[in-house]
Amino acid sequence: MTLDIRGSLKNTRISKNPLVVVDELLANSIDAYLIRRSTEANPPPFSAKLRVSGTPADLLGESYDIIIECEDNGCGLGPEQLKAFLTKDTSYKDDLSIPGIGQCKGTGRVQFFHHFTELAISSVYRAVGGVHHVYLPPISDRKAIEPEDFEIEERTSGEVGTKITLAKVEPKLRDTLFSAVSVQRLFNAGAIKQHVLFNLLQRFVSLTEELDGFSIEFSSDLDGGKSQETLQPKDIPEHTTVEPITVEHVEGDNSVSAEFNVTHYKLNALEYPLPQNLVGLCAKASIADVITARYLKC
Ligand SMILES: Nc1ncnc2c1ncn2[C@@H]1O[C@H](COP(=O)(O)OP(=O)(O)O)[C@@H](O)[C@H]1O
Ligand SMILES: [Mg+2]
Repeated sequence: MTLDIRGSLKNTRISKNPLVVVDELLANSIDAYLIRRSTEANPPPFSAKLRVSGTPADLLGESYDIIIECEDNGCGLGPEQLKAFLTKDTSYKDDLSIPGIGQCKGTGRVQFFHHFTELAISSVYRAVGGVHHVYLPPISDRKAIEPEDFEIEERTSGEVGTKITLAKVEPKLRDTLFSAVSVQRLFNAGAIKQHVLFNLLQRFVSLTEELDGFSIEFSSDLDGGKSQETLQPKDIPEHTTVEPITVEHVEGDNSVSAEFNVTHYKLNALEYPLPQNLVGLCAKASIADVITARYLKC
């Protein structure tokens, strides 16, 4: 069981989305919470804290070095999760049959290493007679991670959950994805909250019951510029309608069809600072087709 970081980086395309690690961290936190919920009678509501701190990486202040930390109250990195973490292209979550678990490619963490050169984990999971603390120390430019790299100790008490810290932006990305302009625009608490709301909207809507009373706190400190926001159930917009549709794909004499639900949301322009009016068809929260011109004169 070894996670070959260098090999994984070669085989998985880098995402050009500077917030991809935020997406992957929170998707894993939600999954970990759903796993905890499937085994524990009365777990607390889902809670995650996402902290960003950034300092200028050069004398001119044109790029930033940032640290992103995500702390959740999910199941923790127990033996099963640790094994999945160390297995290339893991399919661990596919076999869990827990409703709402993210359809996983098993490669989310590879983006951590594409964007950052240092990763640390501190996690607590429930074990017989107490809890175990799992620690992966921050070491830059690791080529691989092995079971022996984790320090595991028994403790009598401790809150169950996981904290993952990403630090030291990959130098090649400092002038592009992590330029000062990009970081200031995308990594303030308000912008991250909006990104997460849009990106995870469909999951929040379908997991209303499971994530009852959830809270995701965002805090950001960019060279002294501090901001703080919280995402809670009241932020999730009500959908207006749900329409079932059948989509048919025809190729010559062959055709396949699938049933979809089109869920319609209206976002209030005063609450969501979008740059323009936009009507779009989304697949998994990303706009797949902009259809603004059909409805609005631009
Ligand atoms: N916050 C977390 N809590 C518990 N386990 C985690 C957490 N983040 C990652 N893991 C473990 O690491 C594995 C690999 O994560 P990832 O690369 O995102 O792949 P995937 O989520 O598709 O399985 C997960 O399957 C999970 O077992
Ligand atoms: Mg994942």
